[in-house]
Amino acid sequence: MHRRDYYGRLKRRQAVDRVLREGLTGIRVIRSFNRVDYEKRRFNEANLDLTNTAVKVNRMMASLMPLMMQILNFASIAIIWFGGLRINNGHMQVGDLMAFLQYAMQIMFALMMASMMFVMIPRASASAVRINEVLNIAPQIKDPEKAENVDNKKGYVEFQNVTFSYPGAEQPALSYISFSAKPGEVTAIIGGTGSGKSTLINLIPRFYDIDSGSILIDGVDIRSLSQKHLRDKIGLVPQKALLFSGSIADNIRFGKEKAADDEVRRAADIAQATDFIENLKDGFESVISQGGTNVSGGQKQRLSIARALVKRSEIYVFDDSFSALDFKTDAKLRQALKEETVNATVLIVAQRVSTIMDADRIIVLHEGKVAGIGRHHELLKSCQVYKEIVSSQLTEEEIV
Ligand SMILES: Nc1ncnc2c1ncn2[C@@H]1O[C@H](COP(=O)(O)OP(=O)(O)OP(=O)(O)O)[C@@H](O)[C@H]1O
Ligand SMILES: [Mg+2]
Repeated sequence: MHRRDYYGRLKRRQAVDRVLREGLTGIRVIRSFNRVDYEKRRFNEANLDLTNTAVKVNRMMASLMPLMMQILNFASIAIIWFGGLRINNGHMQVGDLMAFLQYAMQIMFALMMASMMFVMIPRASASAVRINEVLNIAPQIKDPEKAENVDNKKGYVEFQNVTFSYPGAEQPALSYISFSAKPGEVTAIIGGTGSGKSTLINLIPRFYDIDSGSILIDGVDIRSLSQKHLRDKIGLVPQKALLFSGSIADNIRFGKEKAADDEVRRAADIAQATDFIENLKDGFESVISQGGTNVSGGQKQRLSIARALVKRSEIYVFDDSFSALDFKTDAKLRQALKEETVNATVLIVAQRVSTIMDADRIIVLHEGKVAGIGRHHELLKSCQVYKEIVSSQLTEEEIV
């Protein structure tokens, strides 16, 4: 069989897997948009394609086997036939004939096995190529050969002229960003959707390497720290709250494996999650299903905040982590956070002005650039972009 056929089949199988997976995970979206028939058609197309090739290949393989058995059996008939004649003439012993038959069968079986290899090798090699492709991907973020250690535990974060573009993107997602965030202060980042807030946040734990400039933590470039050491310093609450299957306590302990029960509880208290957890039948031992589908969006956010808090790191990063909370819970949570994080550096990304109004420093991002840095009142006077965001959300009285 030709190797290309196997590549084709592999691709078709992947296509079927992809369509099937999308159909299962997106089932509610598909139903709500009445796209069931469309998805069925899409699946049928992908599936028919695979079926056709599979039938073709299997038909060839199925005819190969009887053909070979036929050759084998006709050969033994011929041996016995001619051998019988020779024995009849007295030229040969019966034992010789049996031995000859055995040898001939062994050789032919070996040939048959060899021909099976022609079928199996291309199949295995097509899979091996793909597996190797995945295994051979080298991580782009590498630890420095000699990592520096910063153990003075302060958490001073500084961006110096940072420019970053996503791999393959034409425009930089962030350009010339400079600011510093100090321990004991709250630094807020605000800006329209797609302005680069999450991108900026993701650069601090070094999920991506920057193009130019530098990011310093306690005066040391993050590229000269080991990734483990760097990430130990940061408690991150990502924009998309992701929980793992397991109990609620397991999920909070994800931040700190050996956290004692009262530490877990304290983190949940600060994250305003205790109330809803205790209302569940099994409390902290209640089971979160895969992907956290059995808790609400706001509950998920609060659990992922608790997970970051239990770590007690010197830098806390909240990426739009209060968006799914009602105003009352949001205010209560921020009050509790303030007490918890008095000595830590806190970076908060938010959409709501009310969440960040009292921050020590507000960074306004606009299309990947800093449009202004300052306190609420300063920015109201000096920054047009900030003024627009504020006036779209607050009334005249609330602004002052
Ligand atoms: N993984 C990625 N690969 C390529 N481009 C990306 C990626 N993530 C984001 N971008 C691009 O970078 C820009 C900034 O995105 P980012 O997620 O930082 O915005 P944001 O300010 O966090 O928006 P939001 O308020 O919606 O969360 C966008 O134009 C987006 O298209
Ligand atoms: Mg974002």
